[in-house]
This record gives sequence, C-alpha cells and structure tokens, in this order.
Amino acid sequence: MSCRVGILVSGRGSNLQSIIDKSESSEIDTEVAVVLSDNPEAYALQRAKKTGIKAYYIDPENSKPILTGKAEDNYINTLKEHNVNLVCLAGFMRIVKEKLISEFKWKMMNIHPSLLPSFKGLNVQKKALDYGVRFAGATVHFVSGDVDGGPIILQAVVPVYQDDTEESLSDRILKEEHRIYPVAIDLFSRNKLKIRNNKVFIEETNGE
Ligand code: GRF
Repeated sequence: MSCRVGILVSGRGSNLQSIIDKSESSEIDTEVAVVLSDNPEAYALQRAKKTGIKAYYIDPENSKPILTGKAEDNYINTLKEHNVNLVCLAGFMRIVKEKLISEFKWKMMNIHPSLLPSFKGLNVQKKALDYGVRFAGATVHFVSGDVDGGPIILQAVVPVYQDDTEESLSDRILKEEHRIYPVAIDLFSRNKLKIRNNKVFIEETNGE
C-alpha cells in the first residue's frame, strides 16, 4: 500500500511539485493526500489543486511564526482526516511544536537548504556565502523538538563558487532538494528508515 503524505507549505512549492511529479509518475510509492498552508496566497496551494490534490489554507491564528493552540489542533485533525502516514514540511515557515510532532513521531520530515548541523534557521544560503564555505547543500531530516536538529535522513552536497550570489547558490541547492526529498519519502514508504540512538539507518535494499 502506498504511503499517504500530507505536505505543509507556505510559499512557491517547488519541492511540493517535485514530490507530486514523482508520485504521479510512480517513481516513488507515494500519494500526496493533502496539502496544508498557513498562507492563503501560497502558490503551492494552486500547484496542488491543479493536480486535483486537496489543498487547504488553515489559519495559523498566531502572528508569531509558530504553530500552537487551536490552529495546531486544526492541522492535526485535518492530517488525520486524510489518513496520512507521513507529514512533510516543504518550505513551511512556522516552527512546529510538541503536540504535532508527537502525533507524527518519526513520521514527519523537513527539508533544509544547508548541510546540517551547519547553518540552521533562515537565509542559510547567505550565511554559507558569508562564512566562505567551499561546499553547501541540502538536508532531509526527521522533525524533532530541536529546530533543524532532528536525525538526518539524506544530504546532498554542492560546490560553492567564488562568484556565487545568494540566488545562484540557492538554485544549485534547490535542484538537489528536488532530487533528495522524494528519495527520502520513498525510503520511508518502503519502511527502510530505522532510528537508533537518534541516528537514521537506511536498511539494505537487497538489490531492489
Ligand atoms: C526550500 O529551500 C526549502 O529547503 C526551505 O524552504 C524552501 C522552500 O522552497 N525549507 P519551495 O517552496 O519548495 O519552492
């Protein structure tokens, strides 16, 4: 049975699109069951609706960038109503709190545009450029209470060039995001991800 994924978004939704495309083409064993956004204007909502996927704006009811209280319950209830087995944060610009995390314990992933644990938080491509690192990248990790700090599932590395701008580096990282996020989801749906001592182990694939 394919994995039913609920995806939380706030903006343009290019990662969402890559997950939708790879589910539609059966490249990954996943069905995008529902897309939820804290931003009614998110282009991601349109992307989902265009493909016939249920997509809803749910009022975060908070001016701070966190999801708590009644709004958090509304997100949890909607995800449950759509029988999701996995929740993916894909450019969701709010910190998720304990209640949602524990409802989907080790069943919630995030993608972050840096090689964690380097450069947590926002504007991390600029932070990488400002620091002068030679390599940057993307990380898919399970969501824990530690923001951008949960167990790492997959990472991809890209070079940083001396003439890079924030935009050129972000584009190079984004291509890798679009590649590794669906792979991580597929590994989850095939039950290949095991967590021991806060580390993710990817089970042997036996040549599959
Ligand atoms: C991506 O860079 C992702 O890593 C970060 O937010 C951005 C979302 O982009 N968490 P998109 O909405 O998927 O295009």
